[in-house]
Amino acid sequence: MIGYKDYTSIILNINGERRKVIVKPSDTLLRVLREKLGLTGGKPGCENGDCGACTVLIDGKPVKSCMILAIEVADKDITTIEGLNNTEIQEAFHEEGGFQCGYCTSGFLLNAYALLEEKPEANDEEIKEWLQSNLCRCTGYEGIKNAIYSAKEKIKER
Ligand code: FES
Ligand code: FES
Repeated sequence: MIGYKDYTSIILNINGERRKVIVKPSDTLLRVLREKLGLTGGKPGCENGDCGACTVLIDGKPVKSCMILAIEVADKDITTIEGLNNTEIQEAFHEEGGFQCGYCTSGFLLNAYALLEEKPEANDEEIKEWLQSNLCRCTGYEGIKNAIYSAKEKIKER
């Protein structure tokens, strides 16, 4: 087991780039991304694992970045919303108006991206179940669902 004390320099692999950052052992990934690396797309909502606004992908799997320490992911591939530029899911959210205030949007986008990568043929039930990990305080779920169905079709046409 690796022990960390005081400040530690680590390298994070984010959106295909290696970023060096100095962290405390107690710094969450969410806070490091936002406050030390300027990647503010992931949002602090509840910061206790309930809302999903802070979702990022770690080795392709959606993870709530408020619930994981930055030092735990030093050897993993991290994808933030800034890394999903020009993807079908981004385009579909834009076209379908899958947002209102937008606070939850990056979390939904990353989660939906991971869903369609893992299950391109996801059915209604699977989509509903998958999205339960994210909350939209504007209750804009209809647009979000439409965007996911639209992205599903776009991915088929790749
Ligand atoms: S801010 Fe991480 S789950 Fe709400
Ligand atoms: S669009 Fe406002 S929280 Fe979801």
